[in-house]
Amino acid sequence: MFQFSDKGPLYSKYMIKNDELITSGIISEKAGSIEEEANDIFHQIIEILKLNSLDLNCIYYTECYLTKESDMDTFNLLYQKYMNTNSLRKLVVVKSLPKERVCEVAIKAVTKKRSALFSDDSVDLSILKKKAFNYRWAEVEEGIIPLTAADIDFPVAEEIKSALMEYIEEGYFSYTPKRGLPEFKESIANNLRKKGIEINNDYILPIDSAARAMYIASAAVLCKEDEAIVFNPVDFLFKESVLAAGATAVSYPAKIIDERIDVSKLEDYISEKTKMICLCNPHNPLGKLYHKEELEEILKIANKYNLWVMNDEIWSDIVYENDFVSIMNMKGYDLSKVINIYGFSKAYGLAGLRIAYMYCDNQELFDKVVKASDVDSTAGGISSLSQVAGIACLEKADYWKRKFVEKMKENRDYAVSVINQLPLVKSNIPEATYLLYIDIKETGMNSSEFVNLLEEKYHVSLIPGSSKFFGTESEGYVRLCLATSREILSEGLKRISIAVKDIAENKL
Ligand SMILES: Cc1ncc(COP(=O)(O)O)c(C=O)c1O
Repeated sequence: MFQFSDKGPLYSKYMIKNDELITSGIISEKAGSIEEEANDIFHQIIEILKLNSLDLNCIYYTECYLTKESDMDTFNLLYQKYMNTNSLRKLVVVKSLPKERVCEVAIKAVTKKRSALFSDDSVDLSILKKKAFNYRWAEVEEGIIPLTAADIDFPVAEEIKSALMEYIEEGYFSYTPKRGLPEFKESIANNLRKKGIEINNDYILPIDSAARAMYIASAAVLCKEDEAIVFNPVDFLFKESVLAAGATAVSYPAKIIDERIDVSKLEDYISEKTKMICLCNPHNPLGKLYHKEELEEILKIANKYNLWVMNDEIWSDIVYENDFVSIMNMKGYDLSKVINIYGFSKAYGLAGLRIAYMYCDNQELFDKVVKASDVDSTAGGISSLSQVAGIACLEKADYWKRKFVEKMKENRDYAVSVINQLPLVKSNIPEATYLLYIDIKETGMNSSEFVNLLEEKYHVSLIPGSSKFFGTESEGYVRLCLATSREILSEGLKRISIAVKDIAENKL
């Protein structure tokens, strides 16, 4: 396939044929240093690659006319910075040393077609089987499809990879500021501002995972005799973090009434010992948002009884039809006891980098959080690489996240339509998260029996509703993660459909 373009002043023509990009350019006398000029060339090559959805395997300089031989070293250094590959195989022919500051470079780059974002091809199972743990590809037996833990099967945005590679290339991994890189906190503050939340950068704490942030939040404000309200069902981390702080988790049954999480009985669960309400907004596994009215109710109670609120918004970017409202957007309430948590596992696929941040709106609470986090002693904290990736997420990967959410909406609609045509089972339609919460009570099996049967006999794996994962109220439900390709999801759903029909027809 031939493709000519007139993009770019230097590399005004290029050709892509049989996975090879062939281009050449002349660096003019007018241009700046050789370094700037080479920078320009690589920028343009990257643009051409992007324009054509290509990845680079390696580059050959086929012909170079350079003023000084040392100019080639500059090219090589920059090449490694930009292209960052071990497969550098270069053929450099310095033909002549023409006029001062004039240089012509012909470049042949070996490329490969990049899979379209979120296409079936973009999910690489050979890699996931080595890297995706926590009930997923690397942990299940060969042949089983894990629609289990909430993790993403797609590779991260290119911009995140480039940011990491650029940082790695410099070769230093020194200590970072104990309370996080200022530029990461600046990106976070800017991002919060876009969501209508004004926060002083000094009250933001980058931390190694939302899970850890939850433990820190509990440890920061709870004592032994205290109680904290934990919705039931909800992700197990809420209860575990409260217990780890030595306090008691009081379970509030989160019923769905008129499509909303009912908080009307919450006050009945407050005792003299209650010190905190744990909020998961959007809600895992119910896939629900807390709307303004529910948040007001929660804040009224929290303000009245002087309670802390642990506000986990890790799912706040995976939202479909309705807008997400943060408790921090609520006007006219005292928000000084709210500890906020956001993580990068769910919306950007960075679970393995263990990255999150916490923030609050005042010094007193922030001091408690910092003390519980151990960052000042360097016994806690977050790696430099994670923070570099976090900056790229917030500043460069918004387009990726938007497309990902579109993909998840398609997956949601497709999966719900398949499941809800089956006998005995009924799925919710999540307004947020990429998790289906499926009622299996009519099968007559409990959640673990159902999940074990599906895994052993039908080779598809789900998370069982149980006290271990989401609390006692989740018994009779299973959770299904949608964050995979349509091809894998469709095969998983096919297996679930056969299983459910077999159960319905007593064929087991
Ligand atoms: C509500 C909630 N909070 C926290 C986490 C943990 O996130 P992280 O990977 O950042 O520890 C999860 C993971 O599923 C979650 O659903």
